[in-house]
Amino acid sequence: MIEIKDLSISFGDQEILQNIDLTIREKQITIIVGQSGTGKSVLMKCIEGLIEPVQGSIIIDEKDLFTLNKLELNEIRKKMAMLFQGSALLDSMNVYQNVALPLIEHTDLSEDTILKEVKEKLELFGLKDVLTKMPAELSGGMKKRVALARAIILKPKYIIYDEPTTGLDPIIAEEISNLILKMHKQYDITSIIITHDMNCIRKIKGNIVMIHDKKIVFDGTFDDFNNDERKIIKEFVK
Ligand SMILES: Nc1ncnc2c1ncn2[C@@H]1O[C@H](COP(=O)(O)OP(=O)(O)OP(=O)(O)O)[C@@H](O)[C@H]1O
Ligand SMILES: [Mg+2]
Repeated sequence: MIEIKDLSISFGDQEILQNIDLTIREKQITIIVGQSGTGKSVLMKCIEGLIEPVQGSIIIDEKDLFTLNKLELNEIRKKMAMLFQGSALLDSMNVYQNVALPLIEHTDLSEDTILKEVKEKLELFGLKDVLTKMPAELSGGMKKRVALARAIILKPKYIIYDEPTTGLDPIIAEEISNLILKMHKQYDITSIIITHDMNCIRKIKGNIVMIHDKKIVFDGTFDDFNNDERKIIKEFVK
């Protein structure tokens, strides 16, 4: 479980999030929505321990993230996978090297085992004959899938997707939404999805959390979100 308590984040004198309270329950899908620039990516980076808040705490599996030493923080990070906005493959490495990287960095598995794991994950995402391709040789949808394969390779307990379908054509975007659902079910993961994409939200449903003007203005089911009469939500859902 991830518990965010009274969290405030600022950059200089610009306050981004103010007194946020949010509980992310295990094995559920939480979808974080909100207009561009409201601090969704910043919140995600804070959960990863990449940004320090001005105030508040983030408790992950009963450990307070901002009191941990480097070693403890690494242990927590190993449980968390992240699909960054824009997929963030390493351009100088081929597909195999990109997907294998977490295994090389965090495990003592043999090269053969790593190759087998990488192939298995790529296949799961419908990718064949791409092992030696460079990211520049892949389409946008393929890059996302390679990034998904890399995110899942350490069998994380938590996975955070930042705008997984943005910038993809509607058919590929739907495929990615389906893959996210498939992964969620197959691996019993706790999933957090940040997205603007109403098609993706309608497909995945889950618990919706909306950030607006530094605060959480909605935290509840998809159906309640869909029926909410407030203008900011109606504008978002339409
Ligand atoms: N490292 C940083 N230093 C200073 N300001 C930052 C930093 N990262 C983000 N910001 C600011 O914080 C605000 C929130 O940014 P964030 O990237 O979280 O938005 P977002 O909700 O993810 O938007 P989008 O939907 O466009 O991805 C923006 O005003 C941004 O300029
Ligand atoms: Mg963002």
